[in-house]
Amino acid sequence: MSESLRTRDKRVIWHPFTPQKYMPDPIPVVKGEGIYLTDVNGKRYIDAISSWWVTLHGHAHPYIALKIYEQALTLEQVIFAGFTHEPAVKLAERLLEILPGNFSRIFYSDNGSTATEVAIKMGVQFWWNQGASHRNKILALRNAYHGDTFGAMSVSGRSIFTAAFNDKLFEVIFIDAFTYAKASVKEARGEQLHSSMDEIPWDEIACFIYEPLLQGAGGMHIYDAAALNGLLQKCHSHNIICIADEVMTGFGRTGKLFASFYMDEKPDIICLSKGLTGGTMPLSVTACTDNIYQAFVQEDKLKTLFHGHSFTANPIACSAALASLDLLLEPATLQQIDRIGRQHAIFVQELKELCPTVKNARSLGTILAFEIVQGKDEYLNNISAVITEKAMDRGVYLRPLGNTVYLMPPFSIKEDELSFVYDVVRKIIGELA
Ligand SMILES: Cc1ncc(COP(=O)(O)O)c(C=O)c1O
Repeated sequence: MSESLRTRDKRVIWHPFTPQKYMPDPIPVVKGEGIYLTDVNGKRYIDAISSWWVTLHGHAHPYIALKIYEQALTLEQVIFAGFTHEPAVKLAERLLEILPGNFSRIFYSDNGSTATEVAIKMGVQFWWNQGASHRNKILALRNAYHGDTFGAMSVSGRSIFTAAFNDKLFEVIFIDAFTYAKASVKEARGEQLHSSMDEIPWDEIACFIYEPLLQGAGGMHIYDAAALNGLLQKCHSHNIICIADEVMTGFGRTGKLFASFYMDEKPDIICLSKGLTGGTMPLSVTACTDNIYQAFVQEDKLKTLFHGHSFTANPIACSAALASLDLLLEPATLQQIDRIGRQHAIFVQELKELCPTVKNARSLGTILAFEIVQGKDEYLNNISAVITEKAMDRGVYLRPLGNTVYLMPPFSIKEDELSFVYDVVRKIIGELA
């Protein structure tokens, strides 16, 4: 039976981020339950990366499933231009209460890439609407990842993901989060800033987009909150719109409800997706402050944000998000997040001492990462596939980014289950040493 699904898959499916020529046989999954995925042969795997960082409360959570079912029987979809519905409004109201900043409006789309596309459009059109179209440059962090659509690729680091399109991407001013961190220390000491920092035309920049504290797909790099805070202050002193891409870091992943809570300086736009629905339905949000929104409330209809998607604010997805929020804000879930963070911190200490083939062990909230120094240091290196296979043999699903191994389990993972995952990681490190 598994053979036949694999064969059928291989005949008709094109999988994401997968070199087709070397595509390993896909694993037919028949069930998700809590932290486990079960394959067609009945083998269970702990989903230690939350299925691309989306699953917050475990798979097939009965409470979210029930809310989805109820909503599907009530109103499954409706055009969102000219219509509204309770789940969309209620979700917006609840998000505005908990978001890190002074947000007043919620714009819905359906994945992380579109959330950042919308944010960039808001950030650029904000100035255009006010007759300041010369103010159209965009600042972003080197090595960032904001998604796969053209705007999102443009503000992402140039990499193997963008290579075929580099000449089609719009120009962006990139700065390095780590260089900036060093430069801001120098600035605080009254020393001269790094020269590339001096050259930035701050007053021509419309907006700055960043993954707060952690560059995810770029290699789980954790950078300094104080430096980011300084950079946000600097941007705000030049009236630059700050766009926090919390598609990955949102909803408790970094130990706080949103990573932006680690900084005093707050964003003007925030992008959310992945954990928004607890990882059950595609949905995303781009929230903005009233100041930004008011620039679009104009008599001139040309100043409209002409953007939308067929499934904007899909009622089932909004209901799933409301259910996920209910679960997330329960004290027990917040305690789980804390406990995972503490367990990770202890394991990081162990990893630091464990073995010279492990480098840069680090953690932030429920995310832990380290590099395996083996072979060549790049994404296309086979070490990722080797680690995945070794982990799956032992009942854990890992999907390293090149030689960067990371854990990002669902918040429902128990202490002993996480210890089991660490044990598998220890064994793999031992075998690769
Ligand atoms: C920070 C960040 N922004 C945007 C995206 C794109 O999200 P999606 O894959 O849902 O388009 C991702 C995906 O990994 C991400 O990590």
